[in-house]
Amino acid sequence: MRQISVVEDPGAAVAERLSAAAEEGAHIVLTGGSTPRGAYAIAAEQDADWSDATVWFSDERCVPPDHPDSNFAMAQRALLSRLTHPPRVMRMEGELGHDAAAGAYEALVREHLGNDPRFDLVLLGIGPDAHVASLFPGKPELDETGRLVAGVPLAGMEPQVPRVTLTLPVINRARVVAFLVSGADKAQAIGRAFGDPPDPEAPAARVRPGDGSIYVFADEAAAAEL
Ligand code: 6PG
Repeated sequence: MRQISVVEDPGAAVAERLSAAAEEGAHIVLTGGSTPRGAYAIAAEQDADWSDATVWFSDERCVPPDHPDSNFAMAQRALLSRLTHPPRVMRMEGELGHDAAAGAYEALVREHLGNDPRFDLVLLGIGPDAHVASLFPGKPELDETGRLVAGVPLAGMEPQVPRVTLTLPVINRARVVAFLVSGADKAQAIGRAFGDPPDPEAPAARVRPGDGSIYVFADEAAAAEL
């Protein structure tokens, strides 16, 4: 099932989803970049009970967890540290280096969710080049078929630091994938990902949960090329 919602404030729509999933004790994957910050801030205001939920991450930059480029630091500041009843948080340890961090996170996912893990809700942004998580166009991690988590030695975009990322095999096993997209600079990427036909070179076009649903929350500017 795929549903595209063009709304004035996609961040608010995503915050609602996050809070509802948290109350259900879901395994929730947060993402990085700048777009989700507003959604996280709204979810923090909603202050749902996250104590039965587990928070994971879609990707991380290989920097210490208090670095300005850290996705964990952003989520921690905007949301996690502000909750009265915080979740269990499974952070990607980017500071270990991309390969070691990927190996450690893969082990963590398998330990908690088994060898065929299914996240309940995976939140993703999209880059202007249609990348998702840290799966960049033309990079080998995009074609991963076995590992759930990959190290990314060469990022395709700023900040140009190595990354750690969930791979398509695990993203596409999710029960729900929610894209949060805003701004005219994302219009082309959204068109490539969800237009008819989608562009197979666009990483976001390969996010197609086999047994799950995709929700796209976009503002009008981002949805212009759909
Ligand atoms: C990251 C992200 C990445 C992000 C997109 C969109 O670590 O950079 O997880 O996939 O979602 O690049 O980022 P913006 O919201 O900043 O445009």
